[in-house]
Amino acid sequence: MFFKKKEKETVVTVDDRLKHIAFIMDGNGRWAQKKGLPREYGHAAGAKTFKKIALYCGDIGIKYVTIYAFSTENWKRPEREVKAIMKLLSDYLDEALRDLDKNNVRYIFIGDKGIFDDRLREKMLNLEKVSGSKSLTLNFAVNYGARDEIVKACRELIREGNENITADDVSRHLYTALSPDPDIIVRTGGEQRLSNFLLWQASYAEFYFTETLWPDLSTDDIDNIVLAFYGRDRRYGRIKEVPEDKK
Ligand code: IPE
Ligand code: IPE
Ligand code: MG
Repeated sequence: MFFKKKEKETVVTVDDRLKHIAFIMDGNGRWAQKKGLPREYGHAAGAKTFKKIALYCGDIGIKYVTIYAFSTENWKRPEREVKAIMKLLSDYLDEALRDLDKNNVRYIFIGDKGIFDDRLREKMLNLEKVSGSKSLTLNFAVNYGARDEIVKACRELIREGNENITADDVSRHLYTALSPDPDIIVRTGGEQRLSNFLLWQASYAEFYFTETLWPDLSTDDIDNIVLAFYGRDRRYGRIKEVPEDKK
C-alpha cells in the first residue's frame, strides 16, 4: 500500500487560512548516522515518513502539500547517495501509480525534469497526467532550485514579448503556478534557512523550524505545527485593528 494506515484519529482540522503547507525534509542523513547506519537508510526512512505525513495533511483538510526532496545543489553529494535517492524516487513513482485509485492525490513534480533519464522523466510526466484533479495536490520538488525557477519564469516572459510584467505574471510562470503561495514552511533537522526553496512564493509564509530529524516527524508534530500556525498573526503589512473605544 502506498500510504500507511494513519496512526490515530484526526484531531485537528484546518480551514481556508491553511491551504498550503511546504516541508523542507531535512535530517535524513543525520538520522541514519546517529544509528550507525549509512546515510541511504535515512533517505529510505524519510520516504516512509513523507508518505505518512502527506496523507495526514490531506486528512486534516490541507489542500496543497509541497515537499522539498532533492535540490539542484544535492547533485554535489557522493554518487552512491545520489544513486540511492534516485532509486527511492523511481520506486516511489511506481508505488504512487499503482495506488492511484486508493489515494486522492494529484502529483506535480516541480523542478527541472530535463536532467533525469527518459525512464524517470516519463514516469513523472505520466503520473502528472493520470492523477488529474484531486482533493490533495502534492508538489514534489526534485532537481528544484528557486533561483532556477525564477530565471525560467523571466525567460518565458521575455519569449512571450511581455512588456508590463506583473508579480502575478511571474507567479504564473513558476513551477508552482497551480498552487497558492505556501501559508507555512516547515523545516526539520534544526537548520534555519531556505536552501534555495520557494524564494518567490515564501514572501508572506510563516516559518516553523524544528530540531526533529525528518524521519522522526510524527502526525502529532503536524498537529502542533497547525496549532502554532493558528497562533500567528498574519498582518501582511497592516497593523492590528484597535477597537474605537480602546484607542
Ligand atoms: C534531506 O536530508 C534530504 C535531502 C537533502 C536529499 P539530508 O540528507 O540533507 O540530511 P542531513 O541534513 O545530512 O542530516
Ligand atoms: C535542503 O537540504 C534540500 C532538501 C531538503 C531537498 P540540504 O541538506 O541540501 O540543505 P543545506 O545544504 O543544509 O543548506
Ligand atoms: Mg541536510
